[in-house]
Amino acid sequence: MRKKKVASAKNYRILIVDDEPGIIDSLSIILNRSGYFYEGVTSPLEAIEKIRNERFDLMILDYLMSPIHGDEVVRRIREFDSELYILLLTGHKDLAPPLETIKALDIQGYCEKSDRFDQLQLLVESGIKSINMMNTIKQFRDGLNKILESVPKIYQLQPIGNILEEILAELLPLVSSKDAFILVDNFADTNHTKKSIFRGIGRYRTDIDDFVPMLDSGLLEKIGKARISKKVIKTPSGIILPLLNELSESIGVIYVESSENPVNDMAGGFQLLGIYAAQAASSLSNAFLHSMVNMKNDELSQTYEQLRIRYLDTIEALRQVVDAKDEYTRGHSDRVSLYCVEIGKAFGLSEKDLETLRVAGLFHDVGKMGIADDILFKSEKLSPKEYDEIKKHPLKGARILSVISMFRDVVPIIKCHHERMDGKGYPDGLRGPEIPFLARIVSVADAFDAMMSDRHYRSRLDLNSTIKQLVDGSGTQFDATVVEKFISILDSLPYIEDTATKRPV
Ligand SMILES: [Fe+2]
Repeated sequence: MRKKKVASAKNYRILIVDDEPGIIDSLSIILNRSGYFYEGVTSPLEAIEKIRNERFDLMILDYLMSPIHGDEVVRRIREFDSELYILLLTGHKDLAPPLETIKALDIQGYCEKSDRFDQLQLLVESGIKSINMMNTIKQFRDGLNKILESVPKIYQLQPIGNILEEILAELLPLVSSKDAFILVDNFADTNHTKKSIFRGIGRYRTDIDDFVPMLDSGLLEKIGKARISKKVIKTPSGIILPLLNELSESIGVIYVESSENPVNDMAGGFQLLGIYAAQAASSLSNAFLHSMVNMKNDELSQTYEQLRIRYLDTIEALRQVVDAKDEYTRGHSDRVSLYCVEIGKAFGLSEKDLETLRVAGLFHDVGKMGIADDILFKSEKLSPKEYDEIKKHPLKGARILSVISMFRDVVPIIKCHHERMDGKGYPDGLRGPEIPFLARIVSVADAFDAMMSDRHYRSRLDLNSTIKQLVDGSGTQFDATVVEKFISILDSLPYIEDTATKRPV
């Protein structure tokens, strides 16, 4: 057990920077004892170059050094590396930099030099835990992006056997495996005999007669357990993913074989596979649904509604991952959705259009889940390249929602919510009437709520200034008729708090 701890500690690289070699020696003893990899340098300028050219996870940095102090070292490093975990060592607390400097430079901790370094050791250990958590979150986000990319493919309506193969083919890269199979109860079988449908890949690419003898009793038992418990189960030779329909009933399983550790057994890895399995099960339900031509109309619409709810649940689960990172997004999307519907009502739009507006408002920025955190949450000015990245979110969002046909009306709205009447918007630079009318409504509601909200890069405007911005942008950025209609109903809208009066208006 002890050995394992030391082995994993070795994966983290620590740089010690202190102009007193004696301090580096003392720290080395502690870090060595805990099993960390470390290097020590006495020159702050050399330290900056090391961080630029090599991978380090954590830096222990002296404050008073020459020719530059620790805070200047951090300032220079932050220009190219915003993620390095930094602990600052101060000679005496009166000589420490002010708290504002420590916060502004994103220094995660500091402590005074002392003979025993107990406090520093604790800070290093909690730092390593934080780094580990950040890595997990990153891995989770990358996995989600892969799932989002694969979803449209498995949703395309095609023969059931092709869908099964597609599901396996998209799953394997996620778990670094080559051998897998999927077993599904055949709900399209109108005789209700519940024959299973099978597809294998890699060493399981065979027909069902040869397949059955390949399963040992231990694996069969675990498959049964996964179906009953409805939970992802890890076996010594692989992973079993239960497939659940929209009523949370088991409809089959996926088994992915790998003797190497296929998925990091942290909660995030299993959660990712769970999301993937939910998508796979939804696409199967969709396919079964379309093959059940004899189903009565009312039964059909009921199942269709269940599918729609299931899809919304999945999107909501994905949205929560984004919202967990940025509380602003959720409140913002809910308010934009509400304003969109109210504007639509004021225009006398149909119930169908109002529903489209409600969903479009709710998910207009869902594509941002595919944008890297360091760009999305950057408080400084974005570089042109970073801005280009942000500008991909309408297209990414449109792709996410395009996976199911019932949202086809929402897709162009999401795609066009940053287009401008004068053609200077994105992604396509559409002009005036080329932009769907409902997208022009989302654009006004989105801009209004964004201006009325505090963001990490600026404070919110008061109501009058916000209205003035909308009027100034009428005809160029915004559809003038939408702005006019929105202003005419502002008094009747709930949840608008004016910063000038601090009272709801
Ligand atoms: Fe947006």
